[in-house]
Amino acid sequence: MHTEGSDGVPKSAVLIIGSGGREHAIAWKAAQSSKVAAVYAAPGNGGVPREEKCENVPISLDALSQQAGQERLIDFARQADVRLTIVGPEAPLTAGIVDRFRASGLAVVGPNKAAARLEGSKVFAKSFMEKYGVRTPRSRSFSDYKDALLYTAEHFQREQGKTPLVLKADGLAAGKGVIIARQYDEAAAGLGSFMQDALLGDAGKTVVLEEFVPGKEVSILAAVSVSPDSPGTIAPFLSARDHKRRFEGAQGPNTGGMGAIAPVPDFSPLVQKDFQTAILEPTLRGMEQEGLDYRGFIFFGLMVKDERCYLLEYNVRLGDPETQALVPLMDFDLTELCFAMLDNTLRDFPLNWKAGSVCAPVAVAQGYPGAYSKGDRIDINQAEFSQTNALLFIAGAEAKGETLFTAGGRVLAVSASGTDSEDAWEQAYRALGAVSFEGMDYRRDIGRE
Ligand code: GLY
Repeated sequence: MHTEGSDGVPKSAVLIIGSGGREHAIAWKAAQSSKVAAVYAAPGNGGVPREEKCENVPISLDALSQQAGQERLIDFARQADVRLTIVGPEAPLTAGIVDRFRASGLAVVGPNKAAARLEGSKVFAKSFMEKYGVRTPRSRSFSDYKDALLYTAEHFQREQGKTPLVLKADGLAAGKGVIIARQYDEAAAGLGSFMQDALLGDAGKTVVLEEFVPGKEVSILAAVSVSPDSPGTIAPFLSARDHKRRFEGAQGPNTGGMGAIAPVPDFSPLVQKDFQTAILEPTLRGMEQEGLDYRGFIFFGLMVKDERCYLLEYNVRLGDPETQALVPLMDFDLTELCFAMLDNTLRDFPLNWKAGSVCAPVAVAQGYPGAYSKGDRIDINQAEFSQTNALLFIAGAEAKGETLFTAGGRVLAVSASGTDSEDAWEQAYRALGAVSFEGMDYRRDIGRE
């Protein structure tokens, strides 16, 4: 059943799976659509229900990565007459949520389980890249610890310690599966923890050892419509850049992302062309030739060196916090884009973008990415915040009544639009000045690294 609004436009319900800032941003954007009556987020977070039309569905993300939880959500989607589901994080995708929704006759955006291996297995992804000529740093994969150690020793001997080696756990590791080892001892310790001590469980039993390519990272998110029976399309979004290190100047430990910008000023037309021919086109050819069913979002994690793009990884979803930086620039209905991906009309979809830039710094809790404090009240000076061009996207916070309390390491992002990157930066940090919680911290160099 679709309800009809006073404008005569039929309206339907949309379901978003996930609990982060990315999902809050997707929910906000979906709710802007005149064709959407209700937006549900499972499990969502404290920020989602603050948006008009939006509410949370309390099924945990762990449950949604297992069959029983997925089936509960399918029951909910049927009862709530959900017309479109968008999957945010990778774990439910690699656990086959798309296959289950489609088998139940529900429209869902995301790769099926087989296609989700492009993120779920680094070994699969690297052999796909090599098979189809996608430019990627050279690598070898190992399931035997001693062989991996021997290869590592040879690498550091050959390079005389000048070039690091990148260790990647084969399976999903929630951001803990990559080590850039600068010396043999560091690499050997990493291999031991992955392959012998099973620090990451089964995810680290097989590893990819990859040549290190220095350069600047760029994230290209894209909409994909590839199904076994028809020619496919990949439509790239504006470029974005995450800032993964915890501290300013790209120092300190890796995090889930300390802020993002879009578009990226140094992703020049020349580099875009290189991305198209060296990465996007062979990826599309490969997906078609492998007969993948991929009607969902993809994220190309690139390293750009000397105006050439190298693909470091595929993620089979939108990026977080890149999505928070991109949604304010979307000059199209995101739910309509999703339907175009599903019915194979993506090629004709008007993927228009607003002019200007977005700067989206992330505020984190004290201690993050180590053990961090929780339960601190978040104060938002609405009068001051509303003087800026910023949106507030909540990640790790829960609501008690009208008040938000911190509940995760990455607590929130402000996504500020500006006429250019400088203006966006000014707006973003003015907006962050209107938000406070005990121990709140953030990097001040998002877009200036
Ligand atoms: N921004 C990195 C990620 O979403 O994995």
